[in-house]
Amino acid sequence: MVRVRRSRFLKGVRSAMAKRFSGRLYTAERRVREAQHHSDPSSCCKPEVTIFATPKNHEITLECHSVKRLKEKEPHIVEWMFSLTEQNMKSLYESCAWGWNPTAKYKEMTESGAWYLIAKDYKNSSLAGFCHFRFVIDYGVEVLYCYELQVEQQYRSEKIGSKIMLMLETMSAHWKMKKVVLTVLRHNPRAIRFYMDLGYTFDETSPSCEEPEPHYIFSKPTLAN
Ligand SMILES: CC(C)(COP(=O)(O)OP(=O)(O)OC[C@H]1O[C@@H](n2cnc3c(N)ncnc32)[C@H](O)[C@@H]1OP(=O)(O)O)[C@@H](O)C(=O)NCCC(=O)NCCS
Repeated sequence: MVRVRRSRFLKGVRSAMAKRFSGRLYTAERRVREAQHHSDPSSCCKPEVTIFATPKNHEITLECHSVKRLKEKEPHIVEWMFSLTEQNMKSLYESCAWGWNPTAKYKEMTESGAWYLIAKDYKNSSLAGFCHFRFVIDYGVEVLYCYELQVEQQYRSEKIGSKIMLMLETMSAHWKMKKVVLTVLRHNPRAIRFYMDLGYTFDETSPSCEEPEPHYIFSKPTLAN
């Protein structure tokens, strides 16, 4: 009798937990859908986030575009983003188990879910840097995933990278994502220092220092979530 009651009780607990879990996942998926399919997920960012002057007096604007729009209207930007990534990352990828696979990288960068922030120098319209991001479910949790962050050599250490990360964090909070997540190569100490200075740290899903993977996963929880 006691056994029967206990098994009924456990069944009830399991079903309540399953409902709660599927409810949580439902909320996560809805949030990702809303953000990912919005016509401009950056519309929540105020001008002080998207337009700023650097310490060297460059006036920078951060524009948000879907990859679809870029491919149709400004394909030269897609080509520039790919060649900047190759220029900055090829040797780092080649010096680890990942290797450099231009076809796979180009495919990833041009997949339909890709969103981009483009940093432009307002005075001469030069392209200074960019970020590839997406709103996704990662290990059951809604996150803003930063796939790529690249700044042109001549525009580095002007806080453009930091401003781009701030804009990602603003969007992450607005769209109720739990955290901003990114992948960083272990042998890219400059990038590791850059992210750590901004408050990023090892995500619970990251390979540990003892594991052989060439990368870490970093994240920063979204405020007010
Ligand atoms: C990492 C990167 C995106 C940073 O962008 P950025 O616009 O230069 O960054 P910010 O100016 O906002 O911040 C610079 C900070 O990054 C770190 N950093 C930048 N250049 C550095 C260097 N030469 N040596 C050590 N640290 C450096 C420092 O913490 C630095 O702060 P400081 O300028 O006050 O000393 C940029 O250096 C870059 O594009 N690197 C090549 C591509 C890359 O590694 N991308 C990251 C892939 S995960």
